[in-house]
Amino acid sequence: MSGVLLQVEGLLKRFGGLVATDRAQLAVRAGEIHALIGPNGAGKTTLIQQLSGALAPDAGRIVLDGMNITSLSMHERVHRGLARSYQITSIFGRLPVLDNLALALQARQGSSLGFWRAARADVQRYAQAATVAERVGLGGQLQQLAGALSHGQQRQLEVGIALATGAKLLLLDEPMAGMGAEESERMVTLLQSLRSEYTLLLVEHDMDAVFRLADTISVLVAGRVIASGSPQQIRAHSEVRRAYLGDDFEMAEVDA
Ligand SMILES: Nc1ncnc2c1ncn2[C@@H]1O[C@H](COP(=O)(O)OP(=O)(O)OP(=O)(O)O)[C@@H](O)[C@H]1O
Ligand SMILES: [Mg+2]
Repeated sequence: MSGVLLQVEGLLKRFGGLVATDRAQLAVRAGEIHALIGPNGAGKTTLIQQLSGALAPDAGRIVLDGMNITSLSMHERVHRGLARSYQITSIFGRLPVLDNLALALQARQGSSLGFWRAARADVQRYAQAATVAERVGLGGQLQQLAGALSHGQQRQLEVGIALATGAKLLLLDEPMAGMGAEESERMVTLLQSLRSEYTLLLVEHDMDAVFRLADTISVLVAGRVIASGSPQQIRAHSEVRRAYLGDDFEMAEVDA
């Protein structure tokens, strides 16, 4: 878990007069869970969108696994192993869980030539889809329509879809948003189970989840990464506490 998988250098994004990303620097190591935190409007989503390719930066570089991907399309980035946890709207609500995952696998694998080979590939793909469903905790919901899943289960399916596309780096923008305690807990357990095998860049406001999950935390304030370090380092960082965590944070969050 030593190598840097994703490097962001001097990223700059303006919306009119507003500097939403202000020469941001970031290094995400392979196999780690890296949390990106910061106040509302700090530019977290804007940064994630530039990483996924949904937004083009005005300046700076994004390097994935040694390759400059700054000018690649979203599709080309997905092909190189970068997946964004898509919004729920991109789940096919009228299709079963299994088919949603099989489609994501198909998108990665492409379709093969010839009826019998295609049919055989189909059987394999559905078996793989069932394995992914199991992995994200939806093994008991294979035939359930995605639209009928609970909110938390839909987010689990999104993670499954990201895995099925062949991702090695997952960008997750507030995966616990709108979840109850039980659903959040399930998502924490799922994300924990992905550590080492996958690399996660996680934007999250739930500080309990962040401090439990993250190997590294970076703090974004007004488009700038003001600190990056271990949870212990971030907890002790005076500027971070002033800007975001609040002075009583350490009292409440101190390790048991
Ligand atoms: N498409 C856009 N056009 C103009 N301004 C934008 C656009 N998208 C974001 N902004 C502005 O850029 C700043 C950063 O927004 P962003 O959504 O990235 O913050 P965030 O850290 O994700 O906040 P939150 O924690 O509330 O999700 C905000 O001031 C926001 O109003
Ligand atoms: Mg946001």
